[in-house]
Amino acid sequence: MTSTDQDDALARLRAMQAGDLPVHGGRTLAYVYDSGRPDVDRVGREAVAAYAGSNGLDPTAFPSLLAMENDLVGFACDLLDAPPGAVGTVTSGGTESCLLAVQAARDSRPDVTRPNLVVADTVHAAFHKAAHYFGVEVRAVPAGADFRADVPAMVAAMDERTVLVVASAPSYAHGVVDPVPALAAAAVERGVRCHVDACIGGWVLPYAARLGRPVPPWTFAVEGVTSISVDTHKYAYAPKGTSLLLHRTPALRRPVFFAFADWPGYTMLNSTMQSTKSGGPLAGAWAMVETLRDDGYLALARDALAAVDVIVAGVAAQPGLRLLAPPDSTLLAVITDGTCDAFTVCDEMLDRGWFLQPQMSYAGTPPTLHLAVSAGTAAHVDELLAALAEAVAAAVEAGPVSVDPGVVAFIEALDPAALSDEDFDGLLAASRLVGAGSGGGLELPTRMAAVNALLDVAAPRMREALLVAFLDRLARPRRR
Ligand SMILES: Cc1ncc(COP(=O)(O)O)c(C=O)c1O
Repeated sequence: MTSTDQDDALARLRAMQAGDLPVHGGRTLAYVYDSGRPDVDRVGREAVAAYAGSNGLDPTAFPSLLAMENDLVGFACDLLDAPPGAVGTVTSGGTESCLLAVQAARDSRPDVTRPNLVVADTVHAAFHKAAHYFGVEVRAVPAGADFRADVPAMVAAMDERTVLVVASAPSYAHGVVDPVPALAAAAVERGVRCHVDACIGGWVLPYAARLGRPVPPWTFAVEGVTSISVDTHKYAYAPKGTSLLLHRTPALRRPVFFAFADWPGYTMLNSTMQSTKSGGPLAGAWAMVETLRDDGYLALARDALAAVDVIVAGVAAQPGLRLLAPPDSTLLAVITDGTCDAFTVCDEMLDRGWFLQPQMSYAGTPPTLHLAVSAGTAAHVDELLAALAEAVAAAVEAGPVSVDPGVVAFIEALDPAALSDEDFDGLLAASRLVGAGSGGGLELPTRMAAVNALLDVAAPRMREALLVAFLDRLARPRRR
């Protein structure tokens, strides 16, 4: 191995990365959150690199990681109105925080044989994953017409086996905050835990409130809220790989911890699902928060929310588009009218350098375009609206995306519980949407509208089965 080999590997990495969505520039409106501050991003990246090899498995061996975790949790406690005595844990991301909130609730009630979780159907899919992993029943209650949790219906769904009620602040798909006080009050009355999933909004809403914007109550200031998840790798603009799970008391958090001493190796003691874990993400998040602090985050929230206001007004003025719900935070869900197809608008936006995330139709709501607006978008918001106008015009011109009735019939005849490789191959051949790749794999399609339209006609269980089959084919080794 020579230094040329090393340079070559890095050059190839950069070349491969050029085909990915950009993480800077404010034009990728899902998956990544851009502060628009390259100087601050550099601090996060250098911290990750400095701690890439450190192991968060043992706080006595790497005490600096414990100190960073306690600093971060302390900052978040202040942000989220946590009372004295509140505690928290740094996890690998929002999903892990949600998983652990469910696991803690389940394990706090060993007396309940078939525990359940009461959520609005707008809750993040992470709670369904948690239920799947931990053997908890999900009672997903349809949200109201305003896309917020329907409190009376959720209360009616609770029973003596309910171990957790979940509210979102805000929900991913529609960007609205659930009525946390009413849900938390119902939980208190029944002695049930209440988790607020603020993974995506928890670092913005407190600053929005400080900026004088109307924010419904949702933090630990609401009695009965027992835990909150908030992701630092979203609106704390930290490098990927951290979220926080806060509990009101150490006793509420205790079931999350896992220790095992009955084997010949080291005594295992973990606060999260991972055991060995890189210190990089934690160091990156710590460095970001220590750099930006309250003043920095307030300024970034002001920028992101100002961008949201401009986009809301622009969408209202744009024929063909409409906002599904007035946003409580920085997330927008936009629908198209009959003149153009939402999935085609997404493709047309991508052609113009903007990634908006397509969301499938659900419970009578048509497909939507999801925009997670970050501070980095603020400087480009006029370009965004200009691109949107062009994309809508192009989508109107292109006309509706129709799925071949033969393909629809093919899908409808399939059984999602028993989808075979042959079924999937048959669908690929019939739809002619995805080409074969090397090693039995698949080529990624470049334009997605037809693929999304096909997925959209499939019922959710069928869509899941198709996506799993698709991922199975994508994830095939490249061998030399
Ligand atoms: C409300 C909410 N909860 C949970 C998650 C899951 O977070 P992650 O993708 O970091 O696992 C997200 C992600 O967007 C979210 O918006």
